[in-house]
Amino acid sequence: METQVLEVDPLEDARSIYQQAAAVLASGQLVAIPTETVYGLGADAFQPEALAAVFAAKERPAFDPLILHLASARHLDEVVELPEVFRDMVQQLADAFWPGPMTLVLPKKPVVPDLATSGLPTVAVRVSAHPVMRGICKELGHPIAAPSANRFGHISPTSAEAVSKELGGRIPLILDAGACSEGIESTILLPVLDEKGQPAVQILRQGPLVKERIREVVRVVKPKKAPLSRQEREAKAAAPAATEKTPALAPGQLKSHYAPTKPLVLHNPRQAFPMEAGTAYGLISYKGDSPLAGQPGWAATASLSPGSGRLAEAAVRLFAVMRRMDENPAVQVIVAEELPETGLGAAMMDRLRRAAAPRN
Ligand code: TXA
Ligand code: MG
Repeated sequence: METQVLEVDPLEDARSIYQQAAAVLASGQLVAIPTETVYGLGADAFQPEALAAVFAAKERPAFDPLILHLASARHLDEVVELPEVFRDMVQQLADAFWPGPMTLVLPKKPVVPDLATSGLPTVAVRVSAHPVMRGICKELGHPIAAPSANRFGHISPTSAEAVSKELGGRIPLILDAGACSEGIESTILLPVLDEKGQPAVQILRQGPLVKERIREVVRVVKPKKAPLSRQEREAKAAAPAATEKTPALAPGQLKSHYAPTKPLVLHNPRQAFPMEAGTAYGLISYKGDSPLAGQPGWAATASLSPGSGRLAEAAVRLFAVMRRMDENPAVQVIVAEELPETGLGAAMMDRLRRAAAPRN
């Protein structure tokens, strides 16, 4: 299949391109679409065959559910059955963080195909801040199911060029709106009832919307395995769908996700790395000024936020820098500096740990 790459500038009148992309989706085919987090591989969420094509193009196991993208929060009720206990909290979250890099997991309506949720009773939804994704959702008139536009287990693409490398020849259309502004996948939240039966959220996947900010709006609780209290049992009886099957982690959060093809190891930036003779190492440094970065012998070095050390800049560049190291023929093993685990650093360390995990 030939893959067309179309540049789209949302500040120009891009509507004809949105319509063209929506027509491709309506015909059951796939389009790679930019979002503020990473590029998504879009399909019409209401066409099970198109969803099946997503799994095929990504070589993704069918147990890994997809995220539905909506044109606006007003469309939420079309796909989810919002439990009354969560209505106010979800409204507050939507007001505070949509459009933006927040995904909510909520009980699904029957119109949502089982293929989108891998048979789960819940569906993941978000309203992207990217005008191109929202514009196409609007033209299509349906939600767009879109996982990250990479082959399964690979690094998420933050540019159209990276999408081409991953899926070129497998899909008819890639929309190119330049680099993604956030650079890592959305934060996934699951509404739950806390120990007092009050609405709260669990963070299923860390992302650009950091815990510190979520806490300004709602209570954040850790997933727990202890038996339910009486209060919780009563609360659960009031909102069964939402507390049933509560996973400790988002399914698909496999340990060795986001993996480069080369081995990657995490290392303390204040300590020298024990290099083996005859192996070529490439370093991904945070600021580029650590003792580790100063160690002689690197075959290549890159820094995520040169000099200044801003976590937001590092997040935007993380996947692109990982990809470049992976493609650099002079490098055999990638060494990545451990990052401070506050705010966005926690989401980045989550991705790096997965990249460093033994492959399955
Ligand atoms: O930023 C993002 O979220 C990007 C852009 C394209 O929107 N999308 C993305 O999708 O990262 P994907 O498919 O790579 O990750 C979706 C993850 C699944 O792996 C799973 O962990 C979680 O969302 N998920 C989806 N549905 C769920 C559900 N019903 N319950 C729990 N987790 C779910
Ligand atoms: Mg992904």
